[in-house]
Amino acid sequence: MNTSPTPTAEPPPTVRELLAFYLEAGVDCALLDEPPNRLHDPEIAPPPAAVPSPPANHPVPPSAVMARAPATAAPAPDVAIVSARDAARTAPTLEALRALLETFDGCALKQTATRLVFADGNPQARIMFVGEAPGRDEDLEGIPFIGRSGKLLDRMIGAIGLDRTTAYITNVIPWRPPGNRDPSPQETQICLPFIKRQIELVDPDVLVCLGKPSSQAVLELKDGIMRTRGRWHNYDTGKRTIRAMATFHPAYLLRQPIHKRLAWQDLRAISKALNAVGIAPAT
Ligand code: URA
Repeated sequence: MNTSPTPTAEPPPTVRELLAFYLEAGVDCALLDEPPNRLHDPEIAPPPAAVPSPPANHPVPPSAVMARAPATAAPAPDVAIVSARDAARTAPTLEALRALLETFDGCALKQTATRLVFADGNPQARIMFVGEAPGRDEDLEGIPFIGRSGKLLDRMIGAIGLDRTTAYITNVIPWRPPGNRDPSPQETQICLPFIKRQIELVDPDVLVCLGKPSSQAVLELKDGIMRTRGRWHNYDTGKRTIRAMATFHPAYLLRQPIHKRLAWQDLRAISKALNAVGIAPAT
């Protein structure tokens, strides 16, 4: 005979509990007013009825595949990467590059972001900082690094006598990934031509990549930040070679303040390099 107590059904979660659950899972914004029923999406054509499967030597024509894609879907990543490359190289100025990104529809992140987060600071600056992607605060304001990690970044660059009038700040990805999830490798590849063109146009003397995703994407460094930080790398724009350094992302330093000591060493090396070309105030 089974003597174990009968399990009592859990009461359903309250709305407050559900919201707390979503928030903890990183869902902090609503993309639509109503939940979409993906099974009844009028944009998606129903599969063709009673069409016999094509023989193996007759692949499904692309038009049949395309018919099932929503009309607003971003192009396939490889198509988007090629069109990003073609578009980015045509921008003669930073303003033109920003305008190009405003109309570029190749990256699906644009559809869920509130706005483009292009850059902040001085485009004439001799030092350029590149983060990963905007977060919630940046998405709302359209300015990179203005949330908690941005405040720390301001203090970090302040420690070597710089601020947003003497530094240029941007991200690899100019649209916030929903819920601050990591950008996918395809999204990064699609945005890469634009950040590369941005570096070319700013043409700084020192380039600083904040965190592993930025240093992997821009400097093509394979190792983690602990191995790559604090060393000088070369960034080749095609026209000249720029001195580049990877250091910790301020968001990481907020979680691991013990590494601020190493970040300080990196900042001192950066300050020295700027002094060597007669630029930064000594610290
Ligand atoms: N983290 C980033 O990488 N970029 C921002 O703009 C803000 C937070």
